[in-house]
Amino acid sequence: MKFFIDTANLNEIKEAYDLGVLDGVTTNPSLMAKEGIKGHDNIKAHYKAICNIVDNNVSAEVIATDLEGMIKEGYELAKIDDKIVVKVPMIKDGIKAIKKFNSEGIRTNCTLVFSPGQAILAAKAGASYLSPFIGRLDDISQDGLEFISQVRLIYDNYGFETEILAASVRHTMHLVQCAEIGADVVTCPLNVITALLNHPLTDSGLAKFLADHKKANG
Ligand code: G3P
Repeated sequence: MKFFIDTANLNEIKEAYDLGVLDGVTTNPSLMAKEGIKGHDNIKAHYKAICNIVDNNVSAEVIATDLEGMIKEGYELAKIDDKIVVKVPMIKDGIKAIKKFNSEGIRTNCTLVFSPGQAILAAKAGASYLSPFIGRLDDISQDGLEFISQVRLIYDNYGFETEILAASVRHTMHLVQCAEIGADVVTCPLNVITALLNHPLTDSGLAKFLADHKKANG
């Protein structure tokens, strides 16, 4: 299972990378805005800075919603670095753009995916990654994890190579259950990744080991 961090914050990306378990980064226009990154050149420079931290897989999202605009932006983003994956929304022209990028060897991440039908279309178009948003489905009382299971079944039925990139992951149980289901990738905030470290028995066990060592060794 690959771990991506879902942020545009360079310090958080560095911290996750330094842990040694990071396989990539996902961003979106909201996350870029949250970091105060605006303007064409600054946005491109920020993506480059992210690429300079990690080894691969940096999702950079297009803003255009028409085919011509998405293609133009996608080419520009892909030119920034070989690590860039062009993130495209699940809309009609997005599917056409994914098909074209795929035929030209440009990797894509189809985002804002909320139904199995959308997942089939993205895979048929040749998306490299599919981003189903678990937390946002849970928010409206639909089962985000059940959706991941459905997509896993469908993709396995037909041998679709599109990787399931579980997104909108809000807590560790989302992540662990995605692993049980067989999501290929999980993207989540830094606090979800670091929360995986925690267990009270680890803390109390370590404290006891150190206390016993001290007692024996002075
Ligand atoms: O990966 C998509 C993510 O950024 C959305 O997460 O928590 O805003 O639903 P959230």
